[in-house]
Amino acid sequence: MKKRRCFYLTAVVVMTLMSICCWRLPVAAQENMTSVDNGDFGRPERTPSIFRHDAHNEKAKIDACNTCHHVYKDGKLVDNESSEDRRCADCHDLKAVGKTPSLRRAFHLRCVGCHEKIGRGPIMCGECHKK
Ligand code: HEC
Ligand code: HEC
Ligand code: HEC
Ligand code: HEC
Repeated sequence: MKKRRCFYLTAVVVMTLMSICCWRLPVAAQENMTSVDNGDFGRPERTPSIFRHDAHNEKAKIDACNTCHHVYKDGKLVDNESSEDRRCADCHDLKAVGKTPSLRRAFHLRCVGCHEKIGRGPIMCGECHKK
């Protein structure tokens, strides 16, 4: 009887730990992100741009994930949906396709575009692509 209870207890503890780990993994991915991966560019000309995902968005007070992780349906921006489960490169090719800007342009429009518009955040090449 005692042995059995001990087994169940251990099982419960192990399962709880496992579910916590699985739940934490995707969160940690963006928490620990310090730059934007440039692997999709084949032979990148620059260093990967600095981007401390969570710290950046907190400091810049950006609440809506779809400010960057947007969703389009039938050529229209969808208000309350976001696409953080997708890479920008899943939809943006190295070359522009119709109204969909190229991957490089998509990043620069989004990142540099906001900094320019609100007058905060880096706009010089070497501030993001550090030597
Ligand atoms: C606000 C930050 C920011 C600024 C400022 C910026 N970039 Fe980028 N750039 C990015 C991001 C993000 C990417 C996506 C891939 C990466 O991390 O490098 C990118 C991608 C690129 C790429 C394609 C990848 C490669 O290395 O070949 C080039 C080339 C590039 N930038 C050049 C420039 C040049 C030139 C300037 C200045 C005129 C500039 N960037 C300014 C953020 C920035
Ligand atoms: C200022 C722009 C911006 C905002 C706002 C933003 N993200 Fe991101 N996020 C990015 C970029 C850029 C990447 C890298 C995408 C790529 O490599 O294609 C990324 C990647 C991710 C990833 C994948 C991490 C990895 O390592 O694979 C997750 C998950 C994520 N974001 C979740 C979120 C959530 C949740 C929110 C809202 C609370 C959010 N993001 C808001 C720009 C942003
Ligand atoms: C699910 C597909 C999809 C994903 C993922 C996606 N985009 Fe887009 N994006 C589009 C489409 C489609 C358009 C063209 C919209 C139109 O018809 O004008 C677009 C347009 C844009 C534009 C120009 C219009 C605007 O909103 O200013 C920028 C900038 C942009 N994307 C940046 C990004 C960045 C940065 C990421 C990753 C954080 C990203 N996109 C992820 C599909 C996507
Ligand atoms: C909606 C507006 C907005 C968007 C989109 C945005 N930023 Fe920023 N960014 C800011 C603001 C505001 C600051 C200044 C925050 C502060 O330090 O007070 C900033 C600061 C920064 C800094 C300097 C601080 C640091 O963390 O080193 C970097 C680098 C940066 N942004 C990179 C990026 C990149 C790369 C992207 C695109 C993936 C991006 N930003 C998209 C608003 C934005």
